[in-house]
Amino acid sequence: MIKKVLQSNFKILANKKIGRDYFKLTFVSPEISAAACPGQFVEVRVPDCDGLLLRRPIGVHSVSSKSCNILVEIVGPATRALSHKAAGEYLDIIGPLGNGFSFQLSAIPAAGGSAFGGSFQPIIVAGGMGVAPLYFLAERIKQQKPLVLIGARTKSQILCEKEFKKLGCSVKIVTDDGSCGSRGRVTDLLKKILSENSGLKAQSYIYACGPKPMLKAVSRISQDHGIPAQISLEEHMSCGIGACLGCVVKTTTGFQRVCKEGPVFNSREIIWEGL
Ligand SMILES: Cc1cc2nc3c(=O)[nH]c(=O)nc-3n(C[C@H](O)[C@H](O)[C@H](O)COP(=O)(O)OP(=O)(O)OC[C@H]3O[C@@H](n4cnc5c(N)ncnc54)[C@H](O)[C@@H]3O)c2cc1C
Ligand code: FES
Repeated sequence: MIKKVLQSNFKILANKKIGRDYFKLTFVSPEISAAACPGQFVEVRVPDCDGLLLRRPIGVHSVSSKSCNILVEIVGPATRALSHKAAGEYLDIIGPLGNGFSFQLSAIPAAGGSAFGGSFQPIIVAGGMGVAPLYFLAERIKQQKPLVLIGARTKSQILCEKEFKKLGCSVKIVTDDGSCGSRGRVTDLLKKILSENSGLKAQSYIYACGPKPMLKAVSRISQDHGIPAQISLEEHMSCGIGACLGCVVKTTTGFQRVCKEGPVFNSREIIWEGL
């Protein structure tokens, strides 16, 4: 299937601070919103930022008929410069890029087509900014009432809890310091839930996005419990369009580009040593 990718200067509709280090930026693009699938990303050129030549990859967070939202954490010069952009300004953006999550029941072996009907249980596992693309996925599969596990270092880094709940998702929070939800790691919670609910296993499917060590743990847990998992990898990217090979990861079928064949992969495909 040929995917539609656009490059243009898109007008910023809003840029809202949603926490000390987080903002949600909305740009007008009916084309990107129509074409984008959960797990895909856009490449944003950040102007007025000295020495920044490379575009920055940011996941699509949600879409409406005319506009597209990205949810961003300020971690360095580009994300800081983006946080200062105002409504009415323009951003040079390419997207949507990459391969997103497969979420049609017919494409999910665990769901056996329609065999599980309403009882099929997607489990969404988000670490830190992993919530950004996973919210878009939750919107698309809300009828299946996903169980959402959100993990972060501390309370102020828990994002989108209310938004997931509004979709009808059941949400569980974990923080490293115990300041919100239970104390611990999101992968410990995943392990506990699967161990205590043996009935859940046969009907579950895991979708995860977050830091690499978390994804590695999710992959191991999903394998231990015999549950399929799709994970969205974050790699440093240069071109973002498959040309430079700067983002390759080792998989069971050779090296694959995170920006082109990914960022979403079947967790069983990834060879984790060294990652
Ligand atoms: C497919 C994809 C989707 C992404 N989606 C989002 C999103 O929805 N929201 C969001 O806030 N961020 C997202 N990111 C990460 C985002 O691209 C980086 O935070 C951003 O490029 C940092 O740019 P900077 O100039 O502000 O900071 P830099 O100075 O470039 O980096 C600051 C710190 O972040 C680390 N870092 C930068 N880029 C990456 C990366 N790609 N993977 C892992 N670590 C990185 C650097 O090593 C450094 O420690 C995504 C990355 C990828 C690959
Ligand atoms: S960033 Fe260039 S190939 Fe992926």
